[in-house]
Amino acid sequence: MHDILAPRALKTLQRRLLAWFCAHKRDLPWRASRDPYRIWVAEVMLQQTRITAVLPYYYRFLKQFPTVESLARAPQDKVLQLWSGLGYYSRARNLHRAAKEIVARHNGEFPRTIEAARALPGIGRYTAAAVLSIAYDEPLAVLDGNVARVLARLGAVRGDLRAPARWRQLGDLAQDLLAASAPGDWNQALMELGETICTPQIPRCAACPVSRACLARARNLTREIPAPRRKRAPVKMRIAAAILRDPRGRTILVRDPGAHDDVLFSRMWQFPAVEVARHAEAELAEHLHDILKIDAASLRLESLPSARHGVTFRNITLLPFLARVARLPKRPRTRVLPLSNLDRLPVSSATRKIAAATRI
Ligand code: ADE
Repeated sequence: MHDILAPRALKTLQRRLLAWFCAHKRDLPWRASRDPYRIWVAEVMLQQTRITAVLPYYYRFLKQFPTVESLARAPQDKVLQLWSGLGYYSRARNLHRAAKEIVARHNGEFPRTIEAARALPGIGRYTAAAVLSIAYDEPLAVLDGNVARVLARLGAVRGDLRAPARWRQLGDLAQDLLAASAPGDWNQALMELGETICTPQIPRCAACPVSRACLARARNLTREIPAPRRKRAPVKMRIAAAILRDPRGRTILVRDPGAHDDVLFSRMWQFPAVEVARHAEAELAEHLHDILKIDAASLRLESLPSARHGVTFRNITLLPFLARVARLPKRPRTRVLPLSNLDRLPVSSATRKIAAATRI
């Protein structure tokens, strides 16, 4: 598929796509500067997350942490709090750790080589190539899901795009096609084309600046390419959570109390919760005894409406229980705060859903 384009055809493709990008690119906040920090934060937020979901978080984050130094100085909970609701919280933890390294070892400047960038926590081939090409004009092609789809259609590449050999092949193709005169614009043009025109279901080929070079279109294969990915079978899970409430409307959140919490609560602050098999109430009471030393006999758990929560392949049913208590327990690694104001601590959206059950 590398041979599909002769040098002149490649130049035409590059010219047309870059001209389209110049005319149609969306006015996105990280495009207003070449500051590698701002571009890096955007690229990390955009991983697995839609642009519309990212925008409010991006503005808030940069208002709070306008420079890599300010991020490096921040307490981790403040960083997680600003990420709260965006999901995949290891991104925020790694961003924070990498900011500290950049300040400590790179004099506050985002590294200029791919090797040094990739040595930072949370920065893989994609993020390094995106930041270095956009901020520093390094000729490094990016490959993400959008770019892979565009290239697969252009070259009529069949099969699972994420299969390692095929993904490598697409990476080579991306590098071969890269317009070295404007690598940042080129990479963003391919992403933008994938996001706005060459979309997964019904691509808008009539509006595509490079449809004439597209083999999938010529062969009427745009619906077959990319091949659907084999999805992991969904796993059902039930998680019971306790909202303890004292007479002043305060509740207690805990951190890191069990293995499943990584998946659902991302090691953020959460209600005491446990995965349950059959008898949700009894199993939750036992858990409360284990972690908070609450006496099950004195506890009345009132069942609240359940909520659905999906995390990748997991189908989770959240079972919230309210327990009115005279006094909240005092234990290490717990925090007491008003139930109506959980945002004082970093919490995941599952925790917000559980809290919302008390307001129904
Ligand atoms: N998706 C991820 N990064 C992007 C960027 N810089 N421009 C457009 N879409 C993107």
